[in-house]
Amino acid sequence: MKTKILYFSKTGNLKKFVEKLNKQGYNNTLLITPELKVDEKFILLVSTINFGEVPMEYKNFLKKNFTKMIGVAGSGNRNWGKNFAIATDKIAKKFNVPIISKFELSGNLHDLDNFVNKVEELEKNEH
Ligand SMILES: Cc1cc2nc3c(=O)[nH]c(=O)nc-3n(C[C@H](O)[C@H](O)[C@H](O)COP(=O)(O)O)c2cc1C
Repeated sequence: MKTKILYFSKTGNLKKFVEKLNKQGYNNTLLITPELKVDEKFILLVSTINFGEVPMEYKNFLKKNFTKMIGVAGSGNRNWGKNFAIATDKIAKKFNVPIISKFELSGNLHDLDNFVNKVEELEKNEH
């Protein structure tokens, strides 16, 4: 897995997911900050808040950076029923990129493996 992984984290779950990736040796990860401009292809990790909304930090980031996004994965909580990780679907649809995966909170080992495998599949198709 080589592609840059961009993320933000409101309550710490995506931060933990990324730390687990880092521990496995995937270190090409970057926290979204307000002025960030990305000039290489990236995959976005997004959370969902407030009944199915994309957090504002991601909306602002994507205004400036959507052209380099090649896929999106999302964290949510199944307690939210049909709104589970729905920000992932919204971003995929709006920017016409594939959904890599969805998982709950900071993800378990299966979620991590699945994410890495799906990213590697996407990378094969990109080249
Ligand atoms: C106020 C609030 C609203 C939320 N709304 C949703 C939702 O509509 N759908 C969902 O799947 N998860 C929802 N969640 C759960 C978060 O998406 C989930 O905890 C996620 O892992 C947060 O990631 P982060 O801490 O990295 O930002 C909500 C969490 C909070 C605190």
